[in-house]
This record gives sequence, structure tokens and C-alpha cells, in this order.
Amino acid sequence: MSSTDVRATAPTDPPPGAARALPAVLPGAVAAAVATVRRNATAFGALYPDSTTRDDRYPLRPATDEFAEGANRDWTTSFWPGMQWLAVELTGDEELRASALRHAADFARRVHAGEDLDTHDLGFLYTLSCVNAWRLAGDEAARDAALAAADHLLTRVLPSAGIIQAWGDLSDPAQRGRTIVDSLMNMPLLTWATETTGDRRYADVVDRHVAQVRTHLLRDDDSTFHTFYWDPESGEPLRGATEQGAGDDSCWSRGQAWGIYGFALHHRTSGDPDSLRASERCADYFLAHLPTDGVPFWDLVYGDGSDAPRDSSSAAIAACGLLELASVSQDTERAARYEAAGREMLTALVAGYTPADAAAADALLLHAVYDAPKGKGVDEGCLWGDYYYLEALTRLTLPDWVSPWWPATRADAGADGENA
Ligand code: GLY
Ligand code: GLY
Repeated sequence: MSSTDVRATAPTDPPPGAARALPAVLPGAVAAAVATVRRNATAFGALYPDSTTRDDRYPLRPATDEFAEGANRDWTTSFWPGMQWLAVELTGDEELRASALRHAADFARRVHAGEDLDTHDLGFLYTLSCVNAWRLAGDEAARDAALAAADHLLTRVLPSAGIIQAWGDLSDPAQRGRTIVDSLMNMPLLTWATETTGDRRYADVVDRHVAQVRTHLLRDDDSTFHTFYWDPESGEPLRGATEQGAGDDSCWSRGQAWGIYGFALHHRTSGDPDSLRASERCADYFLAHLPTDGVPFWDLVYGDGSDAPRDSSSAAIAACGLLELASVSQDTERAARYEAAGREMLTALVAGYTPADAAAADALLLHAVYDAPKGKGVDEGCLWGDYYYLEALTRLTLPDWVSPWWPATRADAGADGENA
């Protein structure tokens, strides 16, 4: 099967009426980003940068009681090999490919050793590291590791509510019955697991979880709660609450961006019209709450005139989500509008949120916010902002690009039926 065939479920042309001209800044932005990925790969080797920069430089991931400095722990390490795979797809760079495969082996070690797996973010972690290594390089050990991660994610399902618990140990009363809008982006690992094994259990969990997120985290005004609790015993929905937003009733900017992208991906793989509508609602609210330069504040409660920090990572995720939504939208006017908005958002990032001198910063994208209420990573670069920025650049640079978030079969798999 060729990479073009893999994309058979995606429209092959841009939506009618969509802005087709590529931003003139694109090639220069891609070249600068790839140069930084190469430089960071040489600097970090087999180790992992921290989640966010400090003064525009990525330190090594700090040591903890359990883990050495630079170890593969927490939810953000896969964005690093994820960026390397994008650079490989853009340039064919063999050294980065070898580096990304070494990271895939380390992710396989992590899941088989059971290290730091108490999180819904196994989707982010194993899609970008191991599903990529399998679909782009045929790495069977990486496929096994991604399936092990998908199986572990299934253990986090709360049967009474049909949701996947976001954080912590399953016996933690503060976290039992709680899920978060970000979880939508972890569903592609499970969708892929169904595709690659033929076992519907994974996709059934996705459909139930996404329906619950759609019903309870997406509010009537089209904004989103960051997190929501269900009664663990009865499965009754209880209440929304924030973790990283300005307030329980505010709309955390990155959460809304995860909603645009995650619901659009669910629609692509399930065909569920309710997820398409949910993505459109998230997108319309997001676009209506942007300040003049098109890059959101860290919470959408803030607007023009505020001195709150921006979250460029939210814009990078939204740009990818808008481009994804445009490609699945069935309404010509909407598709054109979302495509144009995604391109404009990326152009605004290139113009105002990238380092003037790429050698002076390790981040591809400046001015993100990780967790403002806890004072973490405020006005810094971050690994996921860098990843989605490079993904958005890749989407526009390579028209036949096959996304790791789609339940793709192996890009190089032959016509011998080896795809499940
Ligand atoms: N803030 C960490 C997470 O969502 O998993
Ligand atoms: N899931 C964590 C974040 O978006 O910060």
C-alpha cells in the first residue's frame, strides 16, 4: 500500500474555495525549525529535554528520586522524537531517523518496564514515538510496544461512566472518575490499535469516552471545561472543574484547541457527525475569542488589552486542528473558513512567535504557557508547542503527508495483505 493509498479516507484536494497559496514564509520557517531540531538532537543524544525551556533553552529533564537526569518520564517526552520524525519526513535526514528509532526502543523499554505509566497521556507518548517508528520504518518491536501502551490505557477505563481516568493511580480518590478534554488526543492510539489488530474493544472505548467528553465537557456556549468528574460508583456526571485554566467556568485556551483537533480526529475515524459538530463548535468559539494578532491568551477569558501571557502552543495545536477540521468538513463554506484560519494562525506564529535568531533559542516556538496557576513554564517554549508548530508546517509543506493521528497502516507496507 502506498502512502497515497493510506490517505484514502482523506479528501485529496483542498476544500473548494480554500486559500491554496502557501504562505511565502513557509520554506524559511521549515528550514529554521529543522536546523534547530538537528542541533538539539546532537545536544541531547539519547536523553530528553525538559517539558519547557528556561530563558529559551531546554535544560535536561531534571532528575527525581526515581529517575536520572534526562530520563524518559512524564507525558511530554514523545514530542521530541515526534519532531524528529516530522523532520525526517520533510528532509529524509538519516541521522534523525536513527535517533528517532533509538528513542522508540527506549519507549518500548519504558512500557515493558512499567515506568511512569499512570496517565491517559499514553496516547501522546506512544503514537509519536512507537506508532511512528512502526508506520514509517516498519519497526515491529515499536508496534508491540504501542499495543502494550494501548492495553495499559484500557485499564484506565471507569466502566460505570465509560470514561478513561486522566491522572494518577486508579485507587486515588481525588482522581477517580475524572477526565479532561486533552484526553481526546490520546484516543488515536486506541483507534490505531483496533486498526492494526482488528480488535474492536479499543475503538469501542474511544466511542464511549468521546461521547461523554462531548456531552459533559463541551458547554452550551461552545466553550469547554478543562476537566470533569463522574461518580465512580454510579457513573453519574457530577461537575466541571479546571486544573490549568483561570477558573472552573473559564475556557482554558489549550483545552479548547485540544477539542478542535480531537473531535475532528474522532469524526475522521468514526464518521460520527456529532464529533464533527463538536469540533466546529470548539473552533467557532476559539476563533471568536482571539485577540487582534490571532494568537490566544493562555485562557480565552482574556482579550485585547490584557497583559496576560499568550499561549503560542494553543495556537499551534489549533492551527493543526483547523486544518484537520477543514479536511473533514462537509460544508464548503466552513471548510474554506477553517483552512484559511489555520493558515493565518500558522503565519501569525511564524511572524511573531519564532526566534529572530534560531541559534539563540532551543525552542521552535516562543511564548507558550504550560500551567499558569502553578507558575510552570509561563512565557517559555515547550515541547508540544514545538511539535504542533512543526506539524502545521509539515501539513502545508507536504500535501500528501500522512498523519500519525490517523489510524494509518504502515506507509511502506506492500500489497501482500500484511496490514491488519
Ligand atoms: N498536565 C499534564 C497532563 O495533562 O497530563
Ligand atoms: N495535557 C496537558 C497540557 O496540555 O498541558
